[in-house]
Amino acid sequence: MKLKNKVAVITGGNSGIGFGIAEALKNEGAMGVITGRNQATLDSSAKALGEAFIGIKGDVTKLSDLETIFKLTYEKFGKIDTLVVNAGGIVDGVPMAGIEDVTEESFDLYMDLNLKSTYFTVKKHCPI
Ligand SMILES: NC(=O)c1ccc[n+]([C@@H]2O[C@H](COP(=O)([O-])OP(=O)(O)OC[C@H]3O[C@@H](n4cnc5c(N)ncnc54)[C@H](OP(=O)(O)O)[C@@H]3O)[C@@H](O)[C@H]2O)c1
Repeated sequence: MKLKNKVAVITGGNSGIGFGIAEALKNEGAMGVITGRNQATLDSSAKALGEAFIGIKGDVTKLSDLETIFKLTYEKFGKIDTLVVNAGGIVDGVPMAGIEDVTEESFDLYMDLNLKSTYFTVKKHCPI
């Protein structure tokens, strides 16, 4: 229980690696928030983590959603001790492609999800 009374936020904590990280943090006594866009997996994953965790819906490529996620987190828990910036990967409907098939639009979508969202998740979690 090394993380007793610690508050964690795991983006993309509703599935995959993020859910595994959330489980590991919970098993060390942490509480907090998992995020994702899929309400069904958010609900089932939060339920599986038990009462210490809640799910908050949001798209990490939308700055307004990030602001909502952290506003609700501070309202509920009052602090954030651990931020796991995990959401990302494949853009819906846009398979990863070789350079010959990458377009400016697909490049921007991948940068939005895997680079820009990472930067602004870190920025928006700061209580300033
Ligand atoms: N698996 C690997 O081998 C590997 C290797 C290197 C790096 N990674 C990275 O590790 C992270 C997790 O990988 P994974 O394999 O667990 O991926 P995954 O199973 O596809 O899960 C991705 C998670 O991110 C969330 N997500 C995706 N787009 C989002 C968006 N726009 N806004 C909010 N949440 C979003 C998904 O939830 P919703 O769909 O509900 O939004 C889901 O919870 C990713 O960033 C991936 O790039 C994975």
